[in-house]
Order: sequence, then C-alpha cells, then structure tokens
Amino acid sequence: MKVPFYTSVREYHERKEEFDKAIFDVLERGDFILGKDVSEFEQEAAKYLDVKYAIGVASGSDALVLGSDILGFKDGAEVLTPTFTFFASTSCVARLKGKPILVDMDEDTLNMNLDEAEKKITRNTKGIIPVHLFLQPTPMQKVMDLARKYDLKVLEDAAEGWGMESLVDGQWKKAGTIADIGIFSFFPTKTLGAYGDAGLMVTNDEQLYNKIKSYRVHGSSKKYFHDYIGYNSRLDTLQAAILRVKLRRTEQSIAQRARHAKHYTQRLSKIDGIKIPKIDKNNREVYYVYNILVDKRDELAKFLSENGIGYSIYYPLPLHLQKCFSYLGYKKGDFPVAERISNEIIALPMYPELTDDEVDYMCDVIEKFYR
Ligand SMILES: Cc1ncc(COP(=O)(O)O)c(C=O)c1O
Repeated sequence: MKVPFYTSVREYHERKEEFDKAIFDVLERGDFILGKDVSEFEQEAAKYLDVKYAIGVASGSDALVLGSDILGFKDGAEVLTPTFTFFASTSCVARLKGKPILVDMDEDTLNMNLDEAEKKITRNTKGIIPVHLFLQPTPMQKVMDLARKYDLKVLEDAAEGWGMESLVDGQWKKAGTIADIGIFSFFPTKTLGAYGDAGLMVTNDEQLYNKIKSYRVHGSSKKYFHDYIGYNSRLDTLQAAILRVKLRRTEQSIAQRARHAKHYTQRLSKIDGIKIPKIDKNNREVYYVYNILVDKRDELAKFLSENGIGYSIYYPLPLHLQKCFSYLGYKKGDFPVAERISNEIIALPMYPELTDDEVDYMCDVIEKFYR
C-alpha cells in the first residue's frame, strides 16, 4: 500500500463538478482581481469565524508582514515569538527591522511557553506573536492577560489554526479572532486549503480593518491615491472561488480529521517509545497535523518510506539555529526543549480522504518498527 503524506486530488475527484463550476464561473466573468468570489468568501469566512472583518490576501506569510507593519512590529521594536515554528512567524518582524525575541516551547502542547515569554518582556517589547501550531491554539487567555498587563499588541499566527478554539474570558472563540489581528494561511495542505497560495487577515477593529484593506492595495483607499506605502497582496479570485467550495464542507472535513486522529491515537498510544501531544483543557483542537514524538525518529522515517508511507518533519531546525538569524546572537543549547523536539517529532498523513484501512496499515507498520 502507498499512502501519500498529502494529496489534493482525492477531494478534487470527489467534488469535481463543484470545483470545475467554481473555476469556470470566474473565467466566464473575468473578474480575476478582487472579484465577486473574494468579497463573498470574506463574508462567509467572517461568519464562520464569528469575527467582524475578514480581508483576503495573497498568502499567510504576506498576512504576517502586513500585520507586523500595521501593529508596529518594526524598527527596533521587540516582539516575542516562539523559536519552534514556521519561518514566516518570525521573518515578518525581522524583515521590517524589528527584533524577534525568541521563546522556547511547551513540550506537551508544542506551543510557546508563556511563562518564559513573560520573563523576556522589557520596556522595548511592543508585541507578541502566538502561533497556533499543528492541532491547538497557544493558550489565548494567558496571552491576552499578558497583553493587558504589559500593554502589548498581539498578532495571532493562526496560519495552521483554522477551526481551532480557545476559551477566553469564559467564552469559546475561534483561533485568530481573539487578538488585535489574526492571520490564516490557505496553503494547499492546510485544513482549509486553496489550489495555490492564499491567505486571510481578520480583526474586530474597524480602524485596523480599513488599514489592512488599504495596505493590500499599495496603501490606497482610492485608486492611484496612496495614504501609506503598502503592498500588492490580494487574495486571487480563482483561489477564493475554490475556498468557497471547500468552506461549505469545512466542519465535515474537520470531523473526518478528528476521526482519523482518534484512530491513530487509539493504536499508537499503546506503543512504548511513542508520545502523543496533549490538548490543553482550554483549547478545542483541530487536527491540521497529526504528530508523534519518538526516539529513533530518523530510523522510523526511513522505515515509513520503505513501506510506502509519506511523512513530514515540522520543524527540523528551530529558528534560533537558522543561519539567517545568527545575527540575533542565539546559540545551541539556548532553547533545549525546541532542540530536543526537533529531533523527535514526525508528522503522519492527515487529511479527510484517508481511509480507515490506510490508517490501520500505517499503525501496523509503526508497530512493526517498534517490535
Ligand atoms: C505557522 C505558520 N505561519 C505562517 C505560514 C505561512 O503561510 P503561507 O505558506 O500561506 O505563506 C505557515 C504556513 O505555511 C505556517 O504554518
């Protein structure tokens, strides 16, 4: 049996007519730039997330740069971000000449260690970028408490956080909608994935909304009149059309992911040598990624490949050890949890269209490895 780490093709074939119609409708209308599907997707996404404003942009990475620029995460400002995350959660600040202050991770939930983050707050700290990695948000109650206590701006990196929820001030809220600005990525593998690059920014603040809308079209609110030096970063209409098709079934897709995760956990938690991440009680999880933590990770990876199983390693090198960030002055040993986890973590295939037989097969192979 062969199980790819990810494929978009199964879903496309299941719902080919809907996808084809959505794409050809755009071609017939020709409204490629900020067309009808973009504004409709923005409204539908805002409704799903229960947030006032949603603004489509070209990618999650762009969304982080626009958000950092607008919130003032630049020109020497210190911004707390985890060392164990995707590059873009930190490069957004570095690119704008802000100073990323890296923080180690919590080994159970895999998100930023907020006790350590608090110790690193100085009078130059402008903000914090909590990243909602893999399956659950960074505890947002604690993040917002820190923000209030130290007067910090918060940019939620919910690139991976579609559908996840956090309990804040006694209410369950969707990841991404809690802070000043939240961002999403619709990179194809994501829980809600496009057929190319795409992203979204969300906020409940009208002034921020107006600024984001203007920043995505070169800082103009009226054509050829520029209030800010902005960017060219718009959600493509074809991608918006595809996202609208997928958004209609997003809850079913999330439920399928949960079913596969349960199946994996039932089988893999019995194996000595495998650790499964824990869910914080103030979080509702969504399995964007199914990770396990193992010893002999590289040998297991090789064994999976030999048995036709795809895998991925998020992330093999924490950001404090990346060459381009050497100027920040961190060294090996500074973030021991992240350094250890980056050698133990491995992600198994996780998408709604997996079959039960495939999940069983993968668990059989892993069991065999540990036997
Ligand atoms: C945590 C995190 N932040 C940011 C991004 C960047 O998103 P994109 O690939 O859409 O630029 C990603 C995803 O790829 C991500 O996983």
